Amino acid sequence: MEPLAPRTRLAAADIVIESHLDGAEGRSLAEDVLDGLTRPFKELPPKHFYDARGAQLFDQICELPEYYPTRCERAILSERAEELAELTGAVELVELGSGTAAKTRVLLDALSAAGTLERYVPVDVTESMVRECAESLTSEYPGLRVHGVIGDFERHLEHVPPADGPRIVAFLGGTIGNFPPGSRRRFLREISRLLGPEDHLLMGTDLVKDPRVLEAAYDDSQGVTAEFNRNVLVVLNRELQADFDPEDFDHVALFDTEHEWIEMRLRARREVSAVVRGLDLPVHFDEGEELRTEISAKFTPERVEGDLAAAGLELVDWLPDPEGLFAMTLSRRSPR
Ligand SMILES: C[S@@+](CC[C@H](N)C(=O)[O-])C[C@H]1O[C@@H](n2cnc3c(N)ncnc32)[C@H](O)[C@@H]1O
Repeated sequence: MEPLAPRTRLAAADIVIESHLDGAEGRSLAEDVLDGLTRPFKELPPKHFYDARGAQLFDQICELPEYYPTRCERAILSERAEELAELTGAVELVELGSGTAAKTRVLLDALSAAGTLERYVPVDVTESMVRECAESLTSEYPGLRVHGVIGDFERHLEHVPPADGPRIVAFLGGTIGNFPPGSRRRFLREISRLLGPEDHLLMGTDLVKDPRVLEAAYDDSQGVTAEFNRNVLVVLNRELQADFDPEDFDHVALFDTEHEWIEMRLRARREVSAVVRGLDLPVHFDEGEELRTEISAKFTPERVEGDLAAAGLELVDWLPDPEGLFAMTLSRRSPR
């Protein structure tokens, strides 16, 4: 992560930006590296892909022909946004892992057309994304207020400002799949605590399908996903003064049929001895040894509904795309 000024605020009247990453984010990367690179099976959480370069690469991934989730989720939103605006009456949209908010504009357009839109609250770990998105959205939607939260949605949800009225909390892109099952339900419970009685969660989930389609989506022919995967080593080199050569690692994407999730891994092409100087940590990879950098769980309708129910949420609407590859769900807190 880039160095951040603690709790920065932008001056424009319609934009408030708060950063909660000051120093703590550096510690989180260090802790994750100390924990994940000293295990017998090495692993790092996917949030560390997303420095400014990682965020740009993810945007390029979204445009790739093989990466159907973005196309499908956009199709669902285009088809159903008006209905969602009417059903929720939302005056604000909170978005977890907002990135460039590209698809979000479809929803903002619908809320704006319904005359209810007042505030957008992007929450993302990438500072540049939150700032750029606040600037562009306030000029695209006159009168819109943006309250950006630069932070880790696993640690900083309490900094989401209180609601000004009915709201949609959006968690798009299938990002929920990056959590393993137990943490996924825990995280959904955290999200449900953000919801008042008038609020809704709008979530995108990628569906179980032919493994060849899934693996192609995470291993594109242009090598963009491979560069995105290796970017985590670039982040370690810069932030923790490590000396990995990213080209020593192959990008691997495989569908685990037992767990029904995609795994992205980096596989050492040869024996690698690196040092993470910032942590005084030697790291050794045998030739062929792998580092798991992401899981992306795939869903069935039963899995989504089970997870929502375990988090105290009830399904209001199931919104699949026309090709049946991806689905969104609208849910709300179950009455006690
Ligand atoms: C898979 S991308 C999805 C981006 C966008 N919502 C979309 O649907 O295209 C995940 C986004 O979540 C952000 N992100 C990942 N882990 C995060 C975390 N722990 N806290 C906050 N943001 C996170 C990334 O920076 C990135 O913008």
